[in-house]
Amino acid sequence: MKKAEIVSGFSKLSKRGKMRWLVENFFSHPEEVARELKSFWYGDPQKQKIFDDFSENTVSNYYLPYGVVPNVQINDTLYCVPMVIEESSVVAAASAAAKFWLSRGGFKAEIINTQKVGQVHFEWKGEAHKLEGIFADLRSRIIEDTNHITKNMRQRGGGISSIELVNKTHLEPYYYQLKLSFETCDSMGANFINSTLEEAAISLQAFVQEQEQFSKEEKELTVIMSILSNYTPDCLVRASVECPVADLGTFSGGKIDAEKFAYKFEKALKIAHIDVHRATTHNKGIFNGIDAVALATGNDFRAIESCGHTYAAKDGQYRSLSHAEVKDGVFKFWLDMPLAIGTVGGLTSLHPLAKRSLEMLGNPSAQELMQVIAVTGLAQNFAAVRSLVTTGIQQGHMKMHLANILNHLEATEKEATETLVYFADKLVSFTAVKEFVMKLRTGKNNNFVV
Ligand code: MEV
Repeated sequence: MKKAEIVSGFSKLSKRGKMRWLVENFFSHPEEVARELKSFWYGDPQKQKIFDDFSENTVSNYYLPYGVVPNVQINDTLYCVPMVIEESSVVAAASAAAKFWLSRGGFKAEIINTQKVGQVHFEWKGEAHKLEGIFADLRSRIIEDTNHITKNMRQRGGGISSIELVNKTHLEPYYYQLKLSFETCDSMGANFINSTLEEAAISLQAFVQEQEQFSKEEKELTVIMSILSNYTPDCLVRASVECPVADLGTFSGGKIDAEKFAYKFEKALKIAHIDVHRATTHNKGIFNGIDAVALATGNDFRAIESCGHTYAAKDGQYRSLSHAEVKDGVFKFWLDMPLAIGTVGGLTSLHPLAKRSLEMLGNPSAQELMQVIAVTGLAQNFAAVRSLVTTGIQQGHMKMHLANILNHLEATEKEATETLVYFADKLVSFTAVKEFVMKLRTGKNNNFVV
């Protein structure tokens, strides 16, 4: 690889020009890499343009598997849930959990609230009570001045739900916020919120300047920034399952009975509640499900993740997002999850597969999709903890890992079958599998083959 040189005007190059620059500067076999990049382009140039326009400096598409989980019963509806994820065993785990709960009443989900948040952060060098004194009028002014932006959303039942003045001067000199709450109906609402906030910031500055009773310094208010907050604890959904402990059945081929399972499961959840290291991995398992559905439906998984992790630390310590309780012979398992998502706007209708995902889910409202996403997180979490407290996680993982290794080794169907049989009761590692396949290829493995 050549040493990278500063390039100017790169964004103005054509797509082919960008590719040429890239392959010629960073690869020893440019033609082959160019062919490979092109092989991932959409066949239809019109469709490829849609993908190119999602981002900048695009040279190709990056594929991830698109899988589905059937039989997910939520309240009284049966869903087939789309998931985009590269990690082996996640879809299989969600499917197994969906099947498990299907015969035990299915999943339940309820929306607790749907409020999103935005802030105008500003500095003001006056006495707080003076600002507080004009705040009622300022609020009306902001509502009026943002009317042209909020009108359509209000017609759909949304808009600004509240405006608060927050005094943060005890944390940082002169620092205040306008904290706005929003209802954005079926859209994620990021653009709507940010446009409204920027307009609110202009209103705020103008209104303060108009206050004749304010000194020259008091009329000078500095807006630092206006932006939505991805922390939306009041955009919350609860997903849950419950059944009599006796109905949980037995695990590990009958070695673990229902009571023991429920006990260990509840204990595992307590550990994830009190131990930060475990909580992080536990929640990662939840996000395996949540992110995969978010991606499949064209939602912003980074926003969801950052919000979820903040929520997990809301009492000052990072904790498990899910909870379990075994009481009076009943096993309960639930997840409260803040999810600011949308089913209209953004990628949801532009990405052809996001559109199909929503169609597969029956073109849900944002609230319905919140339920589906939270349930998938709970299902994923159930499957992971179930494995952890019974067989261990590696049994399932390794089966999928083995499939990936076989793909990597470009194993034939015959080689794959023989390898799967051989490793059914053995520890899988890349080296061991490679050695086995190599021996199969050289005919030195006959005594292993079943
Ligand atoms: C792996 O992607 C996720 C798990 O580690 C989650 C967990 O430990 O609960 C299996």
